[in-house]
Amino acid sequence: MNAPAVPAPEWRLRRAGPEDAPALDELIRLSVHGLQSSHYSMAQREAALGPVFGVDHQLIADGTCFVAAAGAKLLAAGGWSRRAARFGGSAGRPDSGPAEWLDPGSAAARIRAFFVHPDWARGGLGRALLARCESEIQAAGFRSAEIVATLAGEPLYAAGGYRVTARTTIALPNGLSLPVVHMVSAWSIRPAETSARPG
Ligand SMILES: CC(C)(COP(=O)(O)OP(=O)(O)OC[C@H]1O[C@@H](n2cnc3c(N)ncnc32)[C@H](O)[C@@H]1OP(=O)(O)O)[C@@H](O)C(=O)NCCC(=O)NCCS
Repeated sequence: MNAPAVPAPEWRLRRAGPEDAPALDELIRLSVHGLQSSHYSMAQREAALGPVFGVDHQLIADGTCFVAAAGAKLLAAGGWSRRAARFGGSAGRPDSGPAEWLDPGSAAARIRAFFVHPDWARGGLGRALLARCESEIQAAGFRSAEIVATLAGEPLYAAGGYRVTARTTIALPNGLSLPVVHMVSAWSIRPAETSARPG
């Protein structure tokens, strides 16, 4: 059996805090330029960084943003939300307060903000983050989850059983647009199987 060229670092998943924001910002930039270049042009990526691909401080404040960290280094991030916003960093959102809460009984939770450092791509971090988010989503009483996925993200969610419901585009500030994929979880839970929403 061949040994991996770079030994996998010891990593663990933890909740992101406000102090992680600068490192998250850098991780997102590296991930976007390192892993999306076969799907989006440099002009699309540069325009999307910030408003579409950026740190969502609300997600961090809500305690639903996770990072895979090896010591002080962030290898990956990903989260979920019980709020209506479907995508985007705080920079792309109007300053009119947090997005409204979703009703777990009738709405799908959002999968949000998955970014893996290019050096650790295809190492299972995306899958681990998705599993952690889904476990919290189900514990919060949601019966399904949905995502507005990048073309780079589509295979991860497809591997997780998500199916495509629509292909659309997001308008970018420079007049370009970003093709994205709306996807919904294959799992769907009957009300009797859900536990009460915490807090
Ligand atoms: C999408 C992304 C988060 C995936 O993270 P990852 O840690 O590399 O994914 P994993 O290693 O956990 O992959 C799990 C499975 O998803 C599928 N998959 C993930 N990336 C894939 C790719 N580039 N091509 C084909 N299949 C892929 C595979 O089935 C994979 O299982 P396998 O490696 O055993 O074959 C990562 O590519 C990324 O950060 N991309 C840039 C930012 C971005 O677009 N994020 C998505 C926002 S919606």
